[in-house]
Amino acid sequence: MNRIFSGVQPTGDLHLGNYLGAIRNFVGLQADFECIYCVVDMHAITVWQDPKQLAPHTREVAAAFLASGIDPANSIIFNQSQVTAHAELAWVFNCVARMGWLNRMTQFKEKAGNHRENASVGLYVYPNLMAADILAYKATHVPVGEDQKQHLELTRDIAIKFNNDFETDFFPVVEPLIFGEATRVMSLRDGSKKMSKSDPSEYSRINLTDGADDIAGKIRKAKTDPEELPGPDALAEDGIHVDDEAAKARPEAFNLLSIYAALSGQSIAVTLDQFAGAQFSAFKGQLADLSVEKLGPIGAEMQRLMADPGHVDGILHDGAERAAAIAEPVIRDVHEIVGFLR
Ligand code: TYM
Repeated sequence: MNRIFSGVQPTGDLHLGNYLGAIRNFVGLQADFECIYCVVDMHAITVWQDPKQLAPHTREVAAAFLASGIDPANSIIFNQSQVTAHAELAWVFNCVARMGWLNRMTQFKEKAGNHRENASVGLYVYPNLMAADILAYKATHVPVGEDQKQHLELTRDIAIKFNNDFETDFFPVVEPLIFGEATRVMSLRDGSKKMSKSDPSEYSRINLTDGADDIAGKIRKAKTDPEELPGPDALAEDGIHVDDEAAKARPEAFNLLSIYAALSGQSIAVTLDQFAGAQFSAFKGQLADLSVEKLGPIGAEMQRLMADPGHVDGILHDGAERAAAIAEPVIRDVHEIVGFLR
């Protein structure tokens, strides 16, 4: 049976990258899969989180799931720390994964920067907890943005090594689902950097709770280049993707065009055709209108939901109970496979 699992960290300020790279894809998958969507609060505390903010930030992610169209009656929505299976399985995986594997993780290197000795141990073993999130439910498919690809390869390596070491075929080898026209949304201020909540400039990202004026203002100020917008001759030979060299030469232009394509639900090829030779000023006006039209209602619904914390908390409790019911037998089997006395 196919099962989807994915997670989003409650570190505040959900942005357009989270939406287009992940959350929007979560919504569509509900039609074909059993889906489990998790607010990963245990991952969040691998870097410092103000305890007063963690619960509101957790509700913010849950509200984004709901406002985007995830149906809690069918899909499971919960926060990670309410289901003990994640921590339990992560410990076993800490003993399966190798130091050499974790040393290769680019996200750790980026986040720890030059202060590796000062990074939390949790940040280092973060990918093992991620593998535990997914495999505690024996999920088979994981929708994420492109930046999580390496972590999912590690999840596959852990499943394969566990199965080999214990001579079993217990864990599935998961498939990443990275799709849509905006799998890597870049900063609006610098097309070579990923759109991220850790960027100090508010103008680098559109937050899901931004109002219409903020959205339009950020798009108006977005960095561009002096040329007219590119057309279909920027496509690669497949006629579907943008040519790598073309994208590298004009990162800001292609980032804005991909955002337009993703929000409008049309392909990048059609979008290039539509705006070929246009001036940025005219294009930005249309991108701002489209962004307000698509994101405005989601932001408003999030605000409404966040004003009723009891309702959101109830959904998370219910989801946690349903999640635990799936994970508990898996953990029992793992204990038996490993040889723990019960
Ligand atoms: P997080 O919270 O950083 O991001 C949540 C999701 O948003 C995607 N994303 C982006 N997509 C496109 N462009 C961007 N600029 C952008 N920024 C973020 C991420 O790829 C992600 O899909 N480690 C995960 C959380 C996690 C998880 C899991 C995911 C924990 N356990 C198990 C899948 C399965 C993370 O940090 O996401």
